Amino acid sequence: MIILGIETSCDETAAAIVENGTKLISNVVASSQAMHAKYGGIIPDQAAREQLKSILPVIQEALTQNIDAIAVTVGPGLIGSLLVGVETAKALAFAWNKPIIPVTHLIGHVYANWIDSEVSENSDPQNVRRSDNLKIRNSGSPSFPSFPALVLLVSGGHTELILMKGHGKFKLLGSTRDDAAGECFDKCARLLNLGYPGGPAIEAAASKCTMNNVQSTIKLPRPMINDKSFDFSFSGLKTAVLGRQGENPNSLAYELQEAVTDVLVEKTIRAAEDHQVKSVLLAGGVAANSRLREKMLSTMNHELGSTMSLFVPPVSLCTDNAAYIAAAAFFNYQPVSWRKINADPSLDI
Ligand code: KG4
Ligand code: ZN
Repeated sequence: MIILGIETSCDETAAAIVENGTKLISNVVASSQAMHAKYGGIIPDQAAREQLKSILPVIQEALTQNIDAIAVTVGPGLIGSLLVGVETAKALAFAWNKPIIPVTHLIGHVYANWIDSEVSENSDPQNVRRSDNLKIRNSGSPSFPSFPALVLLVSGGHTELILMKGHGKFKLLGSTRDDAAGECFDKCARLLNLGYPGGPAIEAAASKCTMNNVQSTIKLPRPMINDKSFDFSFSGLKTAVLGRQGENPNSLAYELQEAVTDVLVEKTIRAAEDHQVKSVLLAGGVAANSRLREKMLSTMNHELGSTMSLFVPPVSLCTDNAAYIAAAAFFNYQPVSWRKINADPSLDI
């Protein structure tokens, strides 16, 4: 089955075609990020206007062949942005007489782990190297996640640990009590004048620094690392960074990245052990962070041996795109009449 995915929940306008939930045929993403960078954050009105300009050209470029169904992100996200994708998808489903499947953005992110890595990584050579180095999905591990799986979903709006017992069977184990990990990076990057979006900016600044020159000078807290729950809290880190604003921004970025990734890795490993899962999956924009990818892999190898496989999508499929929306729709195939599909900005898992 060939599915056209459409994703417009925030500042990316994306369309992709995926066959049988795993084979990436086309993947087009237009972003209005550069425009928002000028203001240090997203302006919802502007994002929706940009979505309107890009949606048809992006779909046209992605449509390299006939399709069987349309999948669209219905929430969560910015209402103006969501409406552009949802109404376009409904119009196409009506005009082409194709089934339409509503997809929750957060569930979509998880399915980036089912998209064939060879295909998606070929289009992004840098990721092949990264994944090879990390030995993610190495020859000894299965090519697709087995259940039960533990998902660490880390994006701009969400930080969640989710137990996945099968396709569409999700149980929330814990989430952030305040800021999401991506939000923490975005806010701290702004405090340190490193640019927007903050995650890649923090990663770039951190890479200019070595561990030794930070360890002696800056120590940030690891919030809730010893707390028994699987919840997170990242807003205190922003306050801690604010208090040290005069110091070297690269060193602060380095230590911030260490603090956030230490907490994410520690809690994920503990949840994986507690629930005796077969695989651990990273998902969401923050999963693009090299330090998180590398730390998760080395800690899992060290503490869990070869009992669990780690799945990490290629960098290009971690941040918002429509390929994972099409993949999620294939594995949870529940078409709905276009009349019943509505954008819902507050959807949850
Ligand atoms: O999943 P996503 O593209 O959009 C949402 O659904 O929120 O995630 C965006 C978030 C932003 O907070 C961004 O700063 C963060 O992902 N991000 C990163 C990296 N790339 C994107 N955080 C850390 N390191 C990165 N390389
Ligand atoms: Zn997202």
